[in-house]
Amino acid sequence: MSEWQKSDWRNKPRIQMPDYTDQAALNAAEAQLSKYPPLVFAGEARRLKDELAKASRGEAFLLQGGDCAESFAEFSADGIRDTFKVMLQMAMVLTYGAKVPVVKVGRMAGQFAKPRSAPTEVKDGVELPSYRGDIINELDFTPESRIPNPKKMLEAYTQAAATLNLLRAFSTGGYADVHKVHSWTLGFTENEKAERYRDVANRIGDTLDFMAAAGVDSARAHALQTVDFYTSHEALLLEYEEALCRLDSTTGQWLAGSGHMIWIGDRTRQPDGAHVEFCSGVQNPIGLKCGPTTTADDLKVLMSKLNPENEAGRLTLIARFGAGKVGDHLPRLIKAVEEEGANVVWSCDAMHGNTIKSSTGYKTRPFDSVLREVREFFQIHKSEGTVPGGVHFEMTGKDVTECTGGVYAVTDEDLSDRYHTACDPRLNASQALELAFLVAEELSERRNPAAATAKAG
Ligand code: PEP
Ligand code: CO
Repeated sequence: MSEWQKSDWRNKPRIQMPDYTDQAALNAAEAQLSKYPPLVFAGEARRLKDELAKASRGEAFLLQGGDCAESFAEFSADGIRDTFKVMLQMAMVLTYGAKVPVVKVGRMAGQFAKPRSAPTEVKDGVELPSYRGDIINELDFTPESRIPNPKKMLEAYTQAAATLNLLRAFSTGGYADVHKVHSWTLGFTENEKAERYRDVANRIGDTLDFMAAAGVDSARAHALQTVDFYTSHEALLLEYEEALCRLDSTTGQWLAGSGHMIWIGDRTRQPDGAHVEFCSGVQNPIGLKCGPTTTADDLKVLMSKLNPENEAGRLTLIARFGAGKVGDHLPRLIKAVEEEGANVVWSCDAMHGNTIKSSTGYKTRPFDSVLREVREFFQIHKSEGTVPGGVHFEMTGKDVTECTGGVYAVTDEDLSDRYHTACDPRLNASQALELAFLVAEELSERRNPAAATAKAG
């Protein structure tokens, strides 16, 4: 077999990517990006793979979340901090409930390109190319805005680098110190969930005080004061991915330098397509979205292409079927995985199968459907005897009103109040925390079935 090349995807069918019209500008942007430093290093991607290997065995749990699409206009330090903070809060609740380490992976620092259900959009009789994310074109409904502009790849790189820089600073510079568990309480979560969070925080605080008094915290101080926080995005715009692909001198393997983990979307997972071809050649952990149309045969081919060595931690299957449909699809895919003896992390994206149009015309997701899909995912893994290894959410630390329901009972009418997403509706901080409590309960029941029986009885 000939050596894999980072440009091999160009010989495969290309879908969901823009047709750039200005070839010279595209070449210039690619050449520029190819000279820039990678955003992540191979050792980090390998460490994430090791952590995901643990998640595949139930010894850790993956929490992946962030924006549907990062935006140039909404880029701010506060936005990054708030999403990071909610991820830490959720991770704290999960670690406390599940008693396993939580692997934190943001949909951040690279989540700029979006697959679309239609290539064009029609408004008042005018048809224009669809918006495909800030790395490609602009949301405004004008012919100029919708022209794909390769220079936007450079702006995306700069924003990703600045985002990652701040995330690294937050992770190691004191902000993520577990002793600050109380100060992560967001001002606006004054509700029952905030109460429960404070309760968990108090217990963690007591434990830390005990450890300090007993003199056991100093040796572990570093582990308590810092977190490992990883980045991920959909590897959709392959010109960008190829330009940031680097050869890792330690192993001689290729690395997607654009983020620690990359995933293949539900629309671009054709076994012979360009996206699978690109992802098959890089050593990063890879996510694969599995939707209702994923067949067992395709999944088997995809697993052998994307993880021929059956390396644990390499492949995360992100199930996204929609509430009420998990039972129709997950068991047959679990069967395919078991038949192949494949090592995978099973993760649940409870967002993308639950998008509806609200009565007020907004694209939304009922929070109840999100909760229900998560419950169904755990239930099926329980009956199949397999490991639910993680969850995948679109969420933000901001107090948005994009998904209906939750403790604050966001209604269809409320959606217009603070609907900020450029793409899919996200959970707000309080809905995200509520979900973390549900997942923590499911996980602690898995560890301790007796407790679940006692609770039920
Ligand atoms: C996404 O994760 O933003 C997305 C588009 O998901 P999917 O490919 O599963 O539809
Ligand atoms: Co989305």
